[in-house]
Amino acid sequence: MAGDDVPTMTSPAEKHSIASLLGRSAPRAPDLETLEAWGRAVGASLPRPCIITLEGDLGAGKTTLARALCAGLGVRDLQSVTSPTFSLVQQYDAPGGPIVHVDLYRVRSGAELEQLGWDELVATSSVLIIEWPDRAAGTLPSGVIALTLLHDEGNPRRRVLKVTGGPVST
Ligand SMILES: Nc1ncnc2c1ncn2[C@@H]1O[C@H](COP(=O)(O)OP(=O)(O)OP(=O)(O)O)[C@@H](O)[C@H]1O
Ligand SMILES: [Mg+2]
Repeated sequence: MAGDDVPTMTSPAEKHSIASLLGRSAPRAPDLETLEAWGRAVGASLPRPCIITLEGDLGAGKTTLARALCAGLGVRDLQSVTSPTFSLVQQYDAPGGPIVHVDLYRVRSGAELEQLGWDELVATSSVLIIEWPDRAAGTLPSGVIALTLLHDEGNPRRRVLKVTGGPVST
């Protein structure tokens, strides 16, 4: 798949239809610049409330994509968008209301999820971005935007992007 033509977003701040961005306009094997431009365009077009899950191995680009989504959502302090591996939950100010960003990598049980106030976070967040959502399988509502990044064996500068519109698990 590496080497395919990758659509470029020349005006990422412009609002595009979310369905088209997640569908035929989604780049299949984006380099960093293309992934960031697409992420900004998606962020600018997200409905609220919404939940976005980011799956992929260590270093696949989940936090990079989360930062691009936040840029599109209007978060100004993009340096604060980091992997919340230790804090587990981070919140960023945005014009349409706060963005909640969680990293469930270290979560090992339903009890730990409960300690995070998981059900309330899911129910009340205006925009919820979840890294390692498999740790919360079965707890998410339908309609989640599920994004997966895979390393591209043939090209270290690209990632394979998969978009699933449906729920992660029901
Ligand atoms: N095409 C690409 N897409 C995304 N990231 C890329 C790409 N090419 C190179 N990179 C680099 O890969 C790294 C991805 O790191 P990032 O922290 O976003 O990954 P992560 O999936 O959140 O990792 P972790 O599981 O440790 O939280 C960044 O340094 C980024 O610049
Ligand atoms: Mg991360």
